[in-house]
Amino acid sequence: MRELSLQLNRAGMCVFLRFSGFVRRKYPVFVLVSWGEAVFIARFLMKRTHNCSQLRHSDTGSTVTLSGWVDSVRDHGGILFVDLRDREGLTQIVLDPSNPGLESQFGSIKPESVISVTGKVDQRFGGTSNAKLATGEIEVHASELEILNVSKTPPFPMDDSADKVGEDLRMTYRYLDLRRATNTKMLKMRHATSRAIRNYLDDQAFIEVETPMLFKSTPEGAREFLVPSRMNPGAFYALPQSPQQYKQMLMVAGVERYYQLARCFRDEDLRADRQPEFTQVDIELSFIDREDMYALIEGLMTKVWKDVINVDIQAPFLRMSYFDAMNRFGVDKPDMRFDMELQDCGEIFAKSGFKVFSGAIKSGGAVKAVNMKGLADLTQGELRNLEDTAKTLGAKGLAFIKCEGGEWKSPIVKFFSDEEKAALTEALKIEDGDIVFFAASEWERACTILGRVRLDAAQLLVKRGKLTIDPNDYKFLWVIEFPLMIFDEEAGRYVSSHHPFTSPVVEDIPLLDSDPKKVRGQHYDLVLNGVELGGGSIRIHQPELQKKVFEEVLQIPQDLVESRFGYMLKAFEYGAPPHGGIAFGLDRMVTILTQRTSIRDVIAFPKNQKGQEMMTSSPGIATPEQLRDLHVKAVLPKQDEPKA
Ligand code: AMO
Ligand code: AMP
Repeated sequence: MRELSLQLNRAGMCVFLRFSGFVRRKYPVFVLVSWGEAVFIARFLMKRTHNCSQLRHSDTGSTVTLSGWVDSVRDHGGILFVDLRDREGLTQIVLDPSNPGLESQFGSIKPESVISVTGKVDQRFGGTSNAKLATGEIEVHASELEILNVSKTPPFPMDDSADKVGEDLRMTYRYLDLRRATNTKMLKMRHATSRAIRNYLDDQAFIEVETPMLFKSTPEGAREFLVPSRMNPGAFYALPQSPQQYKQMLMVAGVERYYQLARCFRDEDLRADRQPEFTQVDIELSFIDREDMYALIEGLMTKVWKDVINVDIQAPFLRMSYFDAMNRFGVDKPDMRFDMELQDCGEIFAKSGFKVFSGAIKSGGAVKAVNMKGLADLTQGELRNLEDTAKTLGAKGLAFIKCEGGEWKSPIVKFFSDEEKAALTEALKIEDGDIVFFAASEWERACTILGRVRLDAAQLLVKRGKLTIDPNDYKFLWVIEFPLMIFDEEAGRYVSSHHPFTSPVVEDIPLLDSDPKKVRGQHYDLVLNGVELGGGSIRIHQPELQKKVFEEVLQIPQDLVESRFGYMLKAFEYGAPPHGGIAFGLDRMVTILTQRTSIRDVIAFPKNQKGQEMMTSSPGIATPEQLRDLHVKAVLPKQDEPKA
């Protein structure tokens, strides 16, 4: 193929004219040309000389070529003013029909069409400069125009008002949606985030290693995506939920410091902070303890926040045990930007005449309360919503006391003695205008219910302007000392609270036999403003302890342990170093950095609530031939049968 192009050398100091295919030669021919000649040739080729955010007052008088998309077009008595847009910004172009050859093309200058213009940079007329625009002082008076592609009218506006149209429509035309300034900015910030992460880890002697995407089933909790193996009839790969096992094998392999921006797959129900396909910043190191890990990650976050949004964050981060997080905030990822903590009312109501409360305490449970200051004016509807939410979490009811006009308005206060009322007022610092909510249940459930009520009620206070939750306030928190295992009532056995590779706290190891629920794990979560950003642990590296956890504590049948983890137990017999790691949700991190509300906003091509990617209509139906080759039979529920 014949080709003529301009190439800058690496330092951008010289320009070469590159010919290929013009003569019978295998290699292209380069000719060194001067900068002036290069600009002349660039114009001849209608190649860009600048981007749309580059030209300034000092460029006045020079001839330039710009290419991009028509952002807007205004007709001022036959003269067209076009805002030309590319990835970097906007430049105003003036198209005067008196210039030969221009007017005949005016009909094609439609919003979102792609054009290339050559013309002279000029100062804007006095008073018309636009201080909000980097190129606001100048405009380009076009002498040549090339229409490169005419656009149909986009199906939604290309400004911020597009956020109000249906998300599925935007995702169907995601290539248009991503052109919007807010999304271009998001993509750049996402890139800046991964660049900062890579630079930091590179400086700390980490090496990036890719691990397989075609893996096998793991026991990390979520449902998996399976991929049938054509060459192994009846066998399936599973897409990795995380590179957990491979990264541990890299430690046995002596890699010492590994990281990967790893794609992970979990077939879970989707929420604002979950996607079936997401990216982890996955990290593993040898010969470290928890303190090393905290310091490493605090350094990483400090760099990312500085590089991406120029914010200095406070380190070291606060630390809180899982018990305290649940007891004080009713959640294992507390938002530390506002207080209104849960209080324990066990002592106050131990002997209460209100049996709902005293009964819960007698049967080993708890009565928790939270004072949502200033929310006594909530409406009946809002109260009902809070109650309904509490019930979805297993609450039998949501008792409350509204304090208005010096009076306690509540269906339960008639059961309280004067001492109980006095003790409550003191413990919860109750004042006029407050509303106090109660949950009586097992400790964990009571905490969870009020934790959720606290968050929802806080949003009502924000709506009323009575509480500020500042999105620019970054309150990082380590949640530590999780129980190694929790008892799963349904399964009738213990399950790992993080994953089965997490090491117990050393002094708790003897409790594995006698009282497993008391064993603390060397597990840590990094929480930011109510979002779980990441989690990890120091791992087990002794084969006997790992086998014991699999078989005796988690009661995974021996043959399953052998088929799933046999290789790992074997590897631990060949010189496994002590090691630990962590993984962050990159998408969650970028959601916070860009102050967007949904993880879908910061992924180039996200999946909707039904797990579909709308632009390409994936997933799609497999042909009978494909299924035959894969030794798979599709059995569909009646209503889901594909239409012929
Ligand atoms: P974990 O399961 O806690 O740990 O995941 C680590 C982090 O990944 C993010 N994340 C998600 N982000 C978007 N969509 C999802 N569906 C999703 N699921 C998880 C979260 C979470 O904190 N292998 C261990 C880590 C380790 O022990 O090193 C793991 O995967 O931000
Ligand atoms: P009852 O006596 O069941 O009508 O309950 C009186 C009030 O206490 C109602 O407002 C219920 O919503 C509330 N309530 C009932 N059970 C609980 C509970 N376990 N925790 C908190 N509030 C409850």
